[in-house]
Formats: sequence, C-alpha cells, structure tokens
Amino acid sequence: MSAAGQALIRLDRVAKTYVTADGPVESLKPLSFEIREGEFMSVVGPSGCGKSTLLKLVAGLLPASAGEIVLNGERVAGPPDDVGIVFQSPVLLAWRSVIDNVMLQIELRGLDPRAYLDKAKALLDMVGLGDFQRKFPWQLSGGMQQRASICRALVHNPAVLLMDEPFGALDAMTREKMNLELQRIWSETKKTVLFITHSIPESIFLSDRVLVMSERPGRVAAIYDVPLARPRRLSLMGTPEFATLAQTIRGHFYAQGALDA
Ligand SMILES: Nc1ncnc2c1ncn2[C@@H]1O[C@H](COP(=O)(O)OP(=O)(O)O)[C@@H](O)[C@H]1O
Ligand SMILES: [Mg+2]
Repeated sequence: MSAAGQALIRLDRVAKTYVTADGPVESLKPLSFEIREGEFMSVVGPSGCGKSTLLKLVAGLLPASAGEIVLNGERVAGPPDDVGIVFQSPVLLAWRSVIDNVMLQIELRGLDPRAYLDKAKALLDMVGLGDFQRKFPWQLSGGMQQRASICRALVHNPAVLLMDEPFGALDAMTREKMNLELQRIWSETKKTVLFITHSIPESIFLSDRVLVMSERPGRVAAIYDVPLARPRRLSLMGTPEFATLAQTIRGHFYAQGALDA
C-alpha cells in the first residue's frame, strides 16, 4: 500500500498570521503533520478556518509566519518545481485551446515544449478529453474544464498535487463523477496529494487519511485513517463503515457549533 511510504511533505509548527491594515489576522495556529509519499490526504474544515492558507503555504505561494515546511527533502521558500496546483476555478485562458492551456505550465516554467507535448496529449486522453484538445475552454462543460486544469497541474510530472476545493463549483452529480475520475488518476499516476475540501463524504471517499481542522484560527483537531479498500465505488458512501466515519468527523463541527445538528 502506497500510504506506507516515507514522509514527502512535513510541516513542523507552521503558523500563519496575516498582517493587514486593520491589524494582524491569525489564520493558522502552529500545525505539525506529515504526508507520506504516494498518500492521498484530505483536509476538511469549516469555511474560513485556514484551509486555502495552508495549501498556499505548502505551495510556496505565501511565506509562513513561523515553523518550517519541507517538501521532498527541501525547505519550502518559494514555489517548488515538484508541485502542481488545482484551484476551485479552472482558470483556463479563453483564447487558448485545451492543449495550449495544458502546455502553459511548460511554457511558464521555461521547459522545452517538444519534450512534454506527448505527455500533455496522454493526460488529456486519460481524462477523456482526447477529442477536445483543439476546443476552447468555453466549448467545454465545467467538469471538462476542471479535468483540463488537472492535466495542466500534472503535465510537468510533479511528485505532489495540491488541490483546493477543485470540485466545489460543480453540480453534485458531476462532482461524484470527478471523485471517481480523481481516484483513477491518483491510482495511475501515484502522486502525493493534498486535497482541500469542505465536503466530509468527498474527503473520506478519496483519502488514505483525513485531517480535520478546527475553526479559525485553524489547528489540527484530529487525523483519521480511512481503512476502506480501493478502488472505491460511490455505493461505498451508503455503507455503515463510511457513515460511522463521516459521523465521527461531523462530530467535530457539531461540538464547535459550525454546522447545524
Ligand atoms: N490575504 C489575506 N489577508 C488577511 N486575511 C486573510 C487573507 N487571506 C485569508 N485571510 C483570513 O484568514 C482566514 C482563513 O482564510 P482561508 O485560508 O481562505 O480559509 P478557508 O480556505 O478555510 O475558507 C480567514 O478568516 C480569512 O479572512
Ligand atoms: Mg478556501
């Protein structure tokens, strides 16, 4: 099982306080945890608890106020090469075709496009967009656009995939399909994934482990193993094992009054 790998990402007492004109905003209390090589780890927590802040720190897009993040043996001090990011909105350029949007990653990193074009096409094939390479983003559904943005995050073959509520803007049925799709992509590419979501079922369905964050300022409330065999089917969500774990995680938020009981 891949989750038995070594730590690929390590956070050691990482904290974040934003400095604003109105004074400091404490977003994250010191957090320490590890993500193992090949592991799929989700972070769930209420809105505003600091999930996106956490992802931006790991992505090297924001400096931490305290503590240390080590990714693949190197301290994160700026965006690492070995990372791909998927945001809630696909952020595709409307005037570029799907394949050219995927290749943007290569251009911006100053890599040789000729060395990556086949990889880009193979990824688009893998997510069912092989026939849509020459289409423009506005000719695609929301789910297809998000698949294209996942390809863009993977094309330079990073070891780590960081995803910030990537399916949050999709309708419920498309979201379930994308969960299946992501499970398949993860099992085929063996990436280490940090997946941010506010959906408890989504976090359980996809993950090896689920990290539960408290309300702002965020801290680690608990980390749960998900001992459910893969590949997982959507019907798994109706089983007692799944429901029990979901209820346990939900309990963190009832206790805080962040969700209605
Ligand atoms: N650039 C910023 N400047 C000041 N405060 C911020 C900034 N970004 C986020 N925050 C604050 O930090 C907290 C966590 O935000 P965020 O990480 O976006 O939460 P989440 O993704 O869990 O909804 C929020 O209370 C938010 O107001
Ligand atoms: Mg967020």
